[in-house]
Amino acid sequence: MPKPTFYITTPIYYPSGNMHIGHTYTTVAADTMTRFKKQTGYDTYFLTGTDEHGQKIERKAAEAGVTPQQFVDKIVAETKDLWKLMNIEYDDFIRTTEDRHMKIVQKIFKQFYDQGDIYKSEYEGLYCTPCESFWTPTQVKDGKCPDCGRPVEPMKEESYFFRMSKYQDWMIKYIEDHPDFIQPPSRANEMLNNFLRPGLQDLCVSRTSFKWGVTVDFDPNHVVYVWIDALSNYITALGYGTDHDEKFKKYWPADVHLVGKEIVRFHTIYWPIMLHALGLPLPKQVFGHGWLLFGEDKMSKSKGNIVYPGPIVKRYGVDALRYYLMREMPFGADGNYTNEALLTRMNADLVNDLGNLVSRTVAMIEKYFGGVVPAPAGYEGPDLDLIAHFEALPGIVEEQMNKLQFSVALSEIWKLIGECNKYIDLTQPWVLCKSEENKPRLGTVMYVLAECIRAIAVYIQPTMPSTPARIYAQLGVAEENLMTWESVQKFGQLKPGTVVKKGEALFPRVDIKKELEAMAAEKDKEAKKAEKAVKKEEKKAEKKEEKAGDGIASFDDFMKIRLVAAKVIACEKVEKSDKLLKETLDIGNGQTKTVCSGIAKYYSPEEMMGKTVVLVNNFAPRKMAGQVSEGMLLCAEDPDGRVRLLTVDGDVAPGSEIG
Ligand code: MSP
Repeated sequence: MPKPTFYITTPIYYPSGNMHIGHTYTTVAADTMTRFKKQTGYDTYFLTGTDEHGQKIERKAAEAGVTPQQFVDKIVAETKDLWKLMNIEYDDFIRTTEDRHMKIVQKIFKQFYDQGDIYKSEYEGLYCTPCESFWTPTQVKDGKCPDCGRPVEPMKEESYFFRMSKYQDWMIKYIEDHPDFIQPPSRANEMLNNFLRPGLQDLCVSRTSFKWGVTVDFDPNHVVYVWIDALSNYITALGYGTDHDEKFKKYWPADVHLVGKEIVRFHTIYWPIMLHALGLPLPKQVFGHGWLLFGEDKMSKSKGNIVYPGPIVKRYGVDALRYYLMREMPFGADGNYTNEALLTRMNADLVNDLGNLVSRTVAMIEKYFGGVVPAPAGYEGPDLDLIAHFEALPGIVEEQMNKLQFSVALSEIWKLIGECNKYIDLTQPWVLCKSEENKPRLGTVMYVLAECIRAIAVYIQPTMPSTPARIYAQLGVAEENLMTWESVQKFGQLKPGTVVKKGEALFPRVDIKKELEAMAAEKDKEAKKAEKAVKKEEKKAEKKEEKAGDGIASFDDFMKIRLVAAKVIACEKVEKSDKLLKETLDIGNGQTKTVCSGIAKYYSPEEMMGKTVVLVNNFAPRKMAGQVSEGMLLCAEDPDGRVRLLTVDGDVAPGSEIG
């Protein structure tokens, strides 16, 4: 009989160079689930990867002064290193810049066009580049994206559109008829009430104002909208649409797409409609998990509240972090990350409960039985209770894991650990050891404990893959068949006579206060380093400007400069610079430019909004405080030395030439 299959995916990550523990969360969950399914007899396939196209990446690459391909290559390598560090065992890592993916995206797009799902028109509306999503004026809040809160930009360009509206009723019915399709159920209601029932708009699925994407082969001015490109990864990775589609035939439809709650919309509306239009079955489930918050906020670089996994893993080990991520918050809900909560859980659950149980038991077997696990001599009350718990646990854990309730499954496992610790207090081996007559009873107690610990090592393997080997080593368990899911169904598999060996504590106890101070100091040091680097860059740019101002310009030199009127449509302070403001400028024809100006002391971002300013429009982009500036705003100094902007009087359209 072939094994049943289990196909699980994470979202493919934007190569932002900022992979924090929020990103790690989705991937650890997918890895834990895969390991669990493998353990329980499935033929698993775990896909992750990177979402490398789009305007955002194109801009970031320009900021870094490299080509988009160079930019993504570097970050993809870092991402893979991070997964190695987190002990993530994926089966495939798909990059949307790979040929195997891009060719099929082109084919899918063409099929949509040929069958009339896609038509050409013009898009006019608003766009959030960080989220790569379109919004209508009624959806945005104060000029900000309703998903991420960052400024949206006006966009007007010829585009292809997908007739989403045609599939609206089908989609509503599908969700209503398949209550397990979107989990948790609250997210299904959100999709129905906020997006589907009010009316689904056709989706703009191509762009012409930038190049970094999959080219529409029958109309090469267009690149495929990044979400159509990205979502297809779940099938292109399996060889869909090629002559080698064995994996696709074997694993599709996916059992579960794990996604963060902000991208549930793309996965439960656009993606199913795309699949339906291709005549393919839908994934069995899309699970929208919550966010790891820091205080009230989602982690983000601009809020300066990012927690990186690297330093935590270095200090406490990967299993401690994986355990914390899976244990601390119910999968589906938001949860707050604090260093203190991490350390408290480590001390309580890993050091006190699990670590102590293992070290006490091994020490007692060494002390009372010379390190040899004794044979049990008949079971009575407390033993039978523990054995009953032992044998009920596989069903409980399996049920919770199949619902992706990692934290509940772990708390059930920890109940067995707690019972074992109580069992020691109840049976009092230190009293039993005093008389020879009680030796058989003492032997039973030691056997029961050792057998329970063996099972616990099996249970924690999916979440904490490197800890079981350390437990087996102390317990003297070497046979693989004592490490399987099968082996925990029935109590009593451990062989009496097994030789235990005390080892290092599984998890060292931490002094929470000291650790918190050390972690804060480390963070401080890093922040100072980053600030220093920004200041150095600013100084360098200033010097360059002074030098450039030394020469004499000819009339021809002057005529080379292109000045245009530009309207400020978004403005914010540049992080870690007290001088710079970053303006997003409407330069006409639906185009925008981003410019950094040293005027933060003289204007607030709010004051800048709506001004029509004079832009030097043909400067080569240059980097300022980590940002790319694509031009310069003209200014003058007033008698008090305050910098004032040159603005354009009257109703001059953005993009109008000045001169
Ligand atoms: N590229 C898209 C996904 C395309 S899938 C076809 C994307 N990438 S992402 O890098 O921004 O996010 C990847 C995943 O990380 C998302 O599921 C997102 O929810 C998750 N997380 C990012 N920050 C997070 C937290 N702070 N907490 C929990 N998960 C978070 O979206």
